[in-house]
Amino acid sequence: MISQKSVQEVIEKARIEDVVEDYVTLKRRGVNMLGLCPFHNEKTPSFTVSPAKNIYKCFGCGKAGNPVQFVMEHESFSFPEALRFLAKKYNIELEETVSSQESIEERQHFDSLYLINQFAKESFQENLFETPEGKSIGLSYFKERGFREETIKKFGLGYTLNKRDAFTLKAIQKGYNIQLLKELGLTSKYDKDFFRSRVMFSIHNLTGKVLGFGGRILDNTIKAPKYVNSPETEIYNKSKILYGAYFAKGAIRKEEECIMVEGYTDVLALHQAGIENVVSSSGTSLTVDQIRLVKRFTPNMKILYDGDQAGVKAALRGLDLVLEQDMNVKVVLLPDGEDPDSYLNKVGASKFKTYLTENADDFIFFKTKLLMEEAKGDPIKKTKMIKDIVSSIARIPDPIKRSLYIKQCAATVDVSEQILVTESNKVVGQNIRKREQRNQRNNTYPRPTSGTSTPSTGSGEFPTQEPNIPTDSEEYPTEAASPAQKQTTDPTAFKEKDIIRILISSGGMPFDQEEDMTVCAYVIQNIEEIIDDFDNKLYENIAKECRSLLQEGKQFDQQYFINHSDPAIGQLAIELIHSPFEYSPNWQEKWEITLQTQKAPEDNFTKDSIQSLYRFKLDKLIKMCTKNQTRIQEASKTGDADQVMLYLKVQQKLLQMRNELAKKLNTVIFK
Ligand code: CTP
Ligand code: MN
Repeated sequence: MISQKSVQEVIEKARIEDVVEDYVTLKRRGVNMLGLCPFHNEKTPSFTVSPAKNIYKCFGCGKAGNPVQFVMEHESFSFPEALRFLAKKYNIELEETVSSQESIEERQHFDSLYLINQFAKESFQENLFETPEGKSIGLSYFKERGFREETIKKFGLGYTLNKRDAFTLKAIQKGYNIQLLKELGLTSKYDKDFFRSRVMFSIHNLTGKVLGFGGRILDNTIKAPKYVNSPETEIYNKSKILYGAYFAKGAIRKEEECIMVEGYTDVLALHQAGIENVVSSSGTSLTVDQIRLVKRFTPNMKILYDGDQAGVKAALRGLDLVLEQDMNVKVVLLPDGEDPDSYLNKVGASKFKTYLTENADDFIFFKTKLLMEEAKGDPIKKTKMIKDIVSSIARIPDPIKRSLYIKQCAATVDVSEQILVTESNKVVGQNIRKREQRNQRNNTYPRPTSGTSTPSTGSGEFPTQEPNIPTDSEEYPTEAASPAQKQTTDPTAFKEKDIIRILISSGGMPFDQEEDMTVCAYVIQNIEEIIDDFDNKLYENIAKECRSLLQEGKQFDQQYFINHSDPAIGQLAIELIHSPFEYSPNWQEKWEITLQTQKAPEDNFTKDSIQSLYRFKLDKLIKMCTKNQTRIQEASKTGDADQVMLYLKVQQKLLQMRNELAKKLNTVIFK
């Protein structure tokens, strides 16, 4: 685990503008900087960087965070990976404490496997570009197929020589362990090279590390499979990897769509033609994990398959899984006999793109049409087919979407909508029951989609399966709204949030210089007796944390919350501090012209905190009055006169307090 001290050092040294400018061009805009958001597609910049606060926020898509969160989001890094990345950039030496001997070994083991794969990749590249055999056979093959040198280099393509053990000997000479070479499938059990006379495709994980290889034979007179691939290893889990994902992730986010093809060469060809949001399942049928991988970047998927029988069957197979994951799936069938690579080479990039747009069919409709074709006039087949389609539709989790599909399908297959609805409800019910049974058996319940206590450091450090694709729970929530964000329309939530805004944005500021009291001290004193009454637990936790800080005499500022170890608090802090008002493009100019003599509202924290506190208390008082009113009614029903009297007195007191507060609030507001 990376020590807290090192974490702090990275957070303090990393400058948001430096980090962002490696990826985004920024222009000065007053105190801030502005650019095109790297996380969504936009033409007018709404991605703002505040050097003073050391944070970024996009007013288009809402993504926000500190430098660490930026690299996590941009590179799909886990927290420790992001720290290592920044530490390298800023020449910081990280202190890594390791919790047990076992994990040191595990870590070193993984590191060695990655290291050997990297060595293999480089030596295959060297073969391709620098040996006569590689150049005349491998490189000329790639060039003949139309791959440019930059593409070949970018994707780490290589070549393995036609020798029995050239690579293995070289690796051993370099000091690599033969056991590990065998484990990675690079060396056979008889100490020979596993890949020979093949052009090589490196398979990367999302952070660009090499997990394994695919090798294509060129000589079709040799009786050997066209492609051979690295075996599954501790670092290469085929069902969780998509070829090309490392190079495609940025484009997938931007285009808000992922194009799925079958082959390595299809990925290369499309990428080279400027269609970069493309990945490949590398011949296997899609798995749930691969779909989840895509879903981290976009809910929209376009599947491009060959126009032959096998292609169509492949398109249908496993696709119900995609629907279950609530993805929007479109299918494009290419003309008979073509695969994406060949068709692209035939018609060129621009016609190819048009073809994709014009021929993309919604998966359900695609399936319906296809099966209709097959069932032509045969009622038994038709019945079976309708059941098949309904079972696909029933997997869609969103009921509105489901009913729209049913409407459309009813029209296509010429069956009454009601029949399809009944049938689909049956299947939905069955699926729910199955899921419940499964849950009961495993005694597990569906995980909540957003969490407030996501661990920030340490976890995801030594995952057991694929070290760089942590499961949801190990990651920062990227899309999931914080509990705070969900409730902004509720007036109580707004008032609670406003108190938290005061604490986070100016808690450390002096409220009363003479009395040496901070805003935090003032606010906490005033809400002490109702600190357990927050409706929102996250807000309550923050208020209580402020109270502890106060009690321990600790100073804190905005950065304390922005870089909080609970990412939900970090996100909330940015949202609260970084108000859109402040970033309206002409704000700076407007401000200086009209309000020169006044303090900016965020500096006017004394007045700000009093107001917000009154509003918060007033809201709680009104609630108490209502509650007490109910008590009075209940007591009257039971005829307990003493009790009624008591509650009436309480009510009188509450109303009095309420009115006083309302009056104060007015004077404060309208002064
Ligand atoms: N594949 C495999 N093993 C095989 C055949 C295919 O792993 N024996 C995988 C490869 O990932 C390949 C994909 O399935 O890229 C699609 O196969 P295919 O269409 O036959 O190959 P292409 O990618 O089109 O390769 P090429 O154009 O070079 O023939
Ligand atoms: Mn092909």
